[in-house]
Amino acid sequence: MNTILKETFDRYPSVYPLRDLSITFCDFELENPFILSAAPSTDELDIVRHGLQMGWAGAVLKTTSIPGTPVSLTYPLMTGWRAGDHRLLGMGNIDLISIYPIDEIVARVKILKKEFPRRLIAASIMGQSKQAWQTLASSLFKAGADLIECSFSCPQGSMGEEPGKMLAQSVEATELVARWVKEAADTTPVLIKITPLVTDIVEIARAVERAGCDGVTAANSFPSLMGVNLQTFVPEPNIGGNSTFSGYTGPAIKPLTLYTVAKIAQATSLSISGNGGISNWRDAAEVMAVGAGCVQLCTAVMHYGFQIIDDFTSGLSHLLDDVGLAKVGELVGRALPNIRDHHSLPRQKVRSRINEQTCIRCNVCYLACRDGGHMAIEYRGQDQVPCVLEEKCVGCGLCAQVCPVSDCVTMEICSGT
Ligand SMILES: Cc1cc2nc3c(=O)[nH]c(=O)nc-3n(C[C@H](O)[C@H](O)[C@H](O)COP(=O)(O)O)c2cc1C
Repeated sequence: MNTILKETFDRYPSVYPLRDLSITFCDFELENPFILSAAPSTDELDIVRHGLQMGWAGAVLKTTSIPGTPVSLTYPLMTGWRAGDHRLLGMGNIDLISIYPIDEIVARVKILKKEFPRRLIAASIMGQSKQAWQTLASSLFKAGADLIECSFSCPQGSMGEEPGKMLAQSVEATELVARWVKEAADTTPVLIKITPLVTDIVEIARAVERAGCDGVTAANSFPSLMGVNLQTFVPEPNIGGNSTFSGYTGPAIKPLTLYTVAKIAQATSLSISGNGGISNWRDAAEVMAVGAGCVQLCTAVMHYGFQIIDDFTSGLSHLLDDVGLAKVGELVGRALPNIRDHHSLPRQKVRSRINEQTCIRCNVCYLACRDGGHMAIEYRGQDQVPCVLEEKCVGCGLCAQVCPVSDCVTMEICSGT
């Protein structure tokens, strides 16, 4: 935490209460639940060192492999998916694993463990055979890594017999390779980094559980095609007139992460490291509330820098105070009992209400309801105020979603069962 912020917190403890944010994850006592995920921010010793100095509770070093594994990068790596106001909603990358092989990573794990004994020093691995996976895992065990993460979900595909395919898209391959790694990792906990792009995420998670691994990182970047230039018809990114599929990351994938984490937490007792689209402390708290014991970040750090950790720790502190929780651990899975199958949801009657005072007469709710809802909004009076027709409104909520003014359209519960 930066000194000015820390001094402010210390001076005004009742206004800025900084709470104990420690939480145990895979038997490791984390100072806070925020970890740097395997990515460029963890690919250079000096950079990851800086992140840990800034207060991140741990880091997963970028995916490594056995010496001699070809890693042939091509540039540019990044593409953006932007809103109309140019805000970055998501980022695509065609990065591969680290160019640094396992012997270099072993050396870094030892250095970082010595410099930061209380931080979680993990490393991500990817092999192409049983021997490779097991060599990688046992090397990290011997180096004293706190955790091994297995990349089963690189959007550019895994290495080995089916290079274009992600390991975590096959239940059998996931179970087999996870078992190999666990065998070789000895006492080091093993997380399998999975992809949400499967028919049934629970089947994959159960395969990880059967293999005896400790948990999952849920999930990873989402395979995507980032856009097509309509003059050249070359998709993004343009690499010498051609393109390929990207890994999609950042704010846009948060709902997929919430889904994936919740489904796994409901069905298994695996430890879950939540990852994907977490951009602020609220996102992190939501992902923990559906079952993640810690969270990993990549795009938000690449966008705003390591210092966002201060916002994450102070935000989470405030949340704990606000909702009256003594420890961060009490947040984990707190929302799960409220997620049910659709058929067991209570039936309720809802109607929308438009606030005449804040309405800017933009026409958006009217058009949406006319063409995509129930024709339940009409204009009234000289002032052309949009009004909800009680008898036609079913309470679908479309008008509230499309309205550009916050809290102008609200949904009111009329009755429920
Ligand atoms: C440029 C880039 C490189 C990445 N490299 C790796 C990698 O080597 N191994 C890995 O498991 N994940 C890698 N990731 C995925 C991230 O660790 C993370 O799972 C993903 O970005 C989703 O999280 P986010 O939305 O917070 O970015 C990479 C992501 C980016 C953007």
